[in-house]
Amino acid sequence: MDINKLKEKFQELYGECGRVYASPGRINIIGEHTDYNGGFVLPGAVDKGIVAVIKFNGTDKVNAYAFDLNENSTFGLIEGQGPKEQWAKYIFGVVRELQKRGAVINEGFDTVFSGDVPLGAGMSSSAALESTYAYALDDMLSLGFSKMDLAKVGQMTEHNYVGVNCGIMDQFASVHGKAGFLMKLNCKTGEFDYVPFDPDKYGYKVCLVDTCVKHELVGSPYNRRRESCENAVRAIKKRHPEVDFVGDADLAWIEEVIGEIPQEDYIRALYARQEVDRLQEACAAMEKGDYETAGRKMYGTHIGMSVLYEVSCVELDFVNEIAKQCGVTGSRVMGGGFGGCTINIVKKELYDNFIVTVQKRYKEEFGIDCKIYPVVISDGSRRLE
Ligand code: GLA
Repeated sequence: MDINKLKEKFQELYGECGRVYASPGRINIIGEHTDYNGGFVLPGAVDKGIVAVIKFNGTDKVNAYAFDLNENSTFGLIEGQGPKEQWAKYIFGVVRELQKRGAVINEGFDTVFSGDVPLGAGMSSSAALESTYAYALDDMLSLGFSKMDLAKVGQMTEHNYVGVNCGIMDQFASVHGKAGFLMKLNCKTGEFDYVPFDPDKYGYKVCLVDTCVKHELVGSPYNRRRESCENAVRAIKKRHPEVDFVGDADLAWIEEVIGEIPQEDYIRALYARQEVDRLQEACAAMEKGDYETAGRKMYGTHIGMSVLYEVSCVELDFVNEIAKQCGVTGSRVMGGGFGGCTINIVKKELYDNFIVTVQKRYKEEFGIDCKIYPVVISDGSRRLE
């Protein structure tokens, strides 16, 4: 991303330049749809994200310019004065969520932002946007929020201003990311460890294959998946009051409620519970350098997400199948699903053949080019310069 271009645009629109902040998108090795189910996740921040220039402007309005869309939005700082533009709702939501937590934000700001995290690829472009503004406002106003608070500000922006009842993974990863490390987060307690991630040392490369099928969680069945799991929990709780999340329940307890809840809710809960265990097994294997076991678990996740959770699509299933045929160690749909990317752990000697094959076969099958993104694990939200 060309930061100088962004600064020039800011100066052209608003005069004297402001501060520059950035936040990344994320990958997730395994643990999908486990965050809102009281399980663990294993994300890492990537070298792609959002960069914003921002400066307070002495008025009670925010003037925002989305560089990549060439669009402006002006909105206020109080409820009822929000923007019409969908992309600007993320910025307004962050302001409001900070205010709800006690921050005094009564002066507006001018801002220009741009991103290189592909939109709709399941790499959390929206979390990167939220984290950028949460982090920037906290820093500029010395609000003193913890990183976890800032992640929650982003998450609640999704819930209250965008309409996606997401878990905490994306915003958490964007704010807390650290170059060379994954984060193993207990989504129930908020405790986490940085886990060194060095596939190169063990002879592997990691890449994303973007099907370019746009994944869109707003208005998508994402919220319905969550409701299914919550419905299963309500039924299980009648016999086992200690259960607050699917991740708390024994598999046998989920089976006890077959027949009491719609079958759809049962199979969603079954997937989520299995995924909670799969993450633990994959993580333990990976920490010993056993990428083969971790890779098998990733394929297991793909099947679960495709058959039980039903958040895959023909294009993702196709790319996953090609990975298998090419001997890729681990491959699965990444993120919320419904399009976007697969994440792939590939032995170095098989990498080039996989890339050529998947690009060729995908084009033959669907008539569109898939994109390949090598994964570079990077730092989280920060001020630049
Ligand atoms: C989206 C959500 C996350 C998480 C993933 C699936 O990215 O924003 O909270 O639920 O889907 O793991």
